[in-house]
Amino acid sequence: MADQDRRSPPCALVIFGVSGDLTARKLLPALERLAADGALPPEVSLVGVARTPMTDQEFATYCARAVAGSGGARWQSLVDTARYVQGGYDDPATYQRLADVLADVDRAQGTGGNRVYYLATPPRLFSPIAISLGKAGLSRPDDGSFVRAVIEKPFGWDEASARDLYADLSTAFEEEQIFRIDHYLAKETVQNLLALRFANSIFEPIWNRTWVDNIQITVAETLGVGQRGGFYETTGAMRDIVQNHVLQVLSLFLMEPPTSFHPEAIRDEKVKLLRAIRPLDEEREIAANAVRGQYTRGGTREDLMAGYREEPGVDPLSSTETFVALRLEIANWRWNGVPVYVRTGKRLPARVTEVTMEFRRPPQLPLFPGTATDLEPDALIVRVQPNEGLSLNFGAKVPGHAFRVQKASMDFSYTSFREASPDAYERVILDALIGDPTLFIRADEVGRSWRIVDPVLQYWSGDPGPIPLYQAATWGPSEAAALITRDGRSWRHPS
Ligand SMILES: NC(=O)c1ccc[n+]([C@@H]2O[C@H](COP(=O)([O-])OP(=O)(O)OC[C@H]3O[C@@H](n4cnc5c(N)ncnc54)[C@H](OP(=O)(O)O)[C@@H]3O)[C@@H](O)[C@H]2O)c1
Repeated sequence: MADQDRRSPPCALVIFGVSGDLTARKLLPALERLAADGALPPEVSLVGVARTPMTDQEFATYCARAVAGSGGARWQSLVDTARYVQGGYDDPATYQRLADVLADVDRAQGTGGNRVYYLATPPRLFSPIAISLGKAGLSRPDDGSFVRAVIEKPFGWDEASARDLYADLSTAFEEEQIFRIDHYLAKETVQNLLALRFANSIFEPIWNRTWVDNIQITVAETLGVGQRGGFYETTGAMRDIVQNHVLQVLSLFLMEPPTSFHPEAIRDEKVKLLRAIRPLDEEREIAANAVRGQYTRGGTREDLMAGYREEPGVDPLSSTETFVALRLEIANWRWNGVPVYVRTGKRLPARVTEVTMEFRRPPQLPLFPGTATDLEPDALIVRVQPNEGLSLNFGAKVPGHAFRVQKASMDFSYTSFREASPDAYERVILDALIGDPTLFIRADEVGRSWRIVDPVLQYWSGDPGPIPLYQAATWGPSEAAALITRDGRSWRHPS
């Protein structure tokens, strides 16, 4: 879509849980930038819903405070006309007041009966809010208008609860009305995967088992759980990162070329790839291909980091995983026999998200005696964060009389574009207002992702021995290294 077309249609954006952290830190600043970019015409209005008592005027002040500086004229008018509905999320009176406010806003601002409900509340409120919207008659569009619901992960806690959530959402909304966010997909580099693969002809011919030896995905954080220990205790790294971000990035990276760039064509290919990932069902398979870990105290004397069990809100005997490594296989024509190694964790030595494709080694290594065997394989590295960009690593001759080969790299950085990358939340809010579902997750993708991670989580919940430990600021437990070295490979050092 051309940039000038990326402007919201008339619409009331209704944020539930508007008094919360996500709204203040992400949504309101993103709206201010969208307003400054001219993406929000005067027929877009903002309505907040939460239990915290606030008048419209106090809500306007709250919105204004969430952004640095005073914002531009359009942001000012968005804030000045913003409305606030106070009430409980399952109280029918809240929805009656919301209906009245929306009718007012349609009349005063020409929002045309179009609504986007953004559920920025704790996930357990998704079902009551959707059901209440349905009962109040606020979830179905009138002729010629649209109604959408945007929800944040987690989409359920396991396969069964994801199904229950879907059933509750379906009481009010059709699948086409539901926009499930994975903000990772809105990152510039992740979208660039599509350009890299399908706007160039040099990569696609080698994007298969004939040329690729293995694929590695690393999502590493240096931070621990901080003040979110209570939340993390019920989540863990598999639900927090693997079930959504990792499997989404993996499916875009490895899917078949879509027949068009129509959102459904892309989502069809993603779900086909997820279906081709062989779930680890047998206990023996899980034990061999899935590693969990938990960080213990570590770091340096000057920068000593607490262990997970010492963090506030964490059970001192907790077996929640703060690290996961998996070896996955994809049972399709393109990727059969190419292992995919995934690792993610907290308190690792670097904050980095990278996808690496390692290519097969050349057949005649002895041509360059003494140097070639310890040379890393050629690799294409997509850096999702930080320093978004691409690197192509290959062997090059070191200048001199001897024929020595050493690793060299061609690098592309996003900073070489003059245009700034929009924040992921700007992208998802505008896509939801416009109605472009490409970067949102469909129900069948959610179901399939749970199908992959659920057996492993169930196996771990049966406590198959003590959880492996790793010192903070190291790359996970030794079992994670063993997972890949037993195949004669090693984890790539993040670039
Ligand atoms: N924060 C982030 O950076 C972030 C990042 C990615 C995804 N998310 C997702 O975004 C959503 C919102 O996150 P958040 O951090 O903004 O949530 P939050 O601050 O914990 O909650 C948002 C609002 O919901 C209401 N609320 C909280 N607990 C409640 C309870 N037990 N019962 C009824 N109402 C309650 C509160 O408003 P009132 O008391 O005024 O009603 C609160 O201000 C979640 O689904 C989260 O998983 C958040």
